[in-house]
Amino acid sequence: MNTLQEQIITQTALWQQAIACVNTHHQLEELRIKFIGKKGILQALFDQLGECSVDQKRLCGPLLNGFKKECEAALKEKKIALATNSVSTQTTFDVTAYTPEQLEGSLHPYSHFITEVQNIFLSMGFELLDGPEVETDYHNFTALNIPGDHPARDMYDTFWLNTPSMLMRTHTSTVQMRAMKEKKLPLAGICTGRVFRHEAVDASHDHTFFQCEGILIDKNVTLAHLFGVIKEFLQALFGSDSLAIRTRPGFFPFVEPGVEIDMQCPFCTTGCSTCKKTRWIEVFPGGMIHPNVLEEAGIDPTVYSGFAFGFGLTRLAMLRYGIKDIRMLSNGKVKFLKNFT
Ligand code: PHE
Repeated sequence: MNTLQEQIITQTALWQQAIACVNTHHQLEELRIKFIGKKGILQALFDQLGECSVDQKRLCGPLLNGFKKECEAALKEKKIALATNSVSTQTTFDVTAYTPEQLEGSLHPYSHFITEVQNIFLSMGFELLDGPEVETDYHNFTALNIPGDHPARDMYDTFWLNTPSMLMRTHTSTVQMRAMKEKKLPLAGICTGRVFRHEAVDASHDHTFFQCEGILIDKNVTLAHLFGVIKEFLQALFGSDSLAIRTRPGFFPFVEPGVEIDMQCPFCTTGCSTCKKTRWIEVFPGGMIHPNVLEEAGIDPTVYSGFAFGFGLTRLAMLRYGIKDIRMLSNGKVKFLKNFT
């Protein structure tokens, strides 16, 4: 058995903890009975004091009396506080207990990169568009001039869902029809987001990655506007006002004409491993929005025209940060993530 002195010290500490947690009159009454009731803790301690030696009494008496006074004063104080409602009736959760300095970690490179991409397009007057990751066949394919039997569906290794005609979007082009139907013209917007393809995973392929879609529709929009926007964007992203682009024809059923835009390698002047010694890096598929797609959205293709592009945001982020293995972006390794504070 502890000495009386030790017991008083322990009980004082317990009392202080308990009274601090009291939020209701009921709890207060329970605590009062437990500590200063007739069969309470204080009484038991006073009983022990009565059986102590004179020396012990001289030591523990004032201690115990002090404890009793403390209990009575705190009870009174708490009662007033409860009556005047200055005690929270909720269990206390101190949100300030976690200060940012104590937190581990940093923003994911995707967060940094997406913010940067969005800021560049916002500065050019584009708005941010959005759409769901779980999509309909209609938005992913049919509305984009890719009917059910179209061979272009094979370009996209699609994750079909058990619900008929539902899938995980294979590209962010799904937001094209959504935006065209929802928004007024003229329209300029981008959408960054996750897309999904049933692909074998290796250093440069993943089943889940990010794309950025862009559309601009107005009267008299031409391919020159597309090239201008892309060049401006890439120059801002890589901080170079001399970065060149080159274009080649490309095919996508929802654009006519379709193009592939390459950018000059921003990392070398004579050829390096990133550009495979070619000085050019393939980045941007795009083109003029197909008249069938505009018509599907109720837009008259003889009055309006528009361009669309959709680039691999993951791929561009990897180029930008020199990430060699796509799996680094999703394996959650803290050592890797710490490079992006
Ligand atoms: N959505 C196409 C893809 O993922 C890219 C694209 C977008 C092409 C817009 C043209 C216009 O392959």
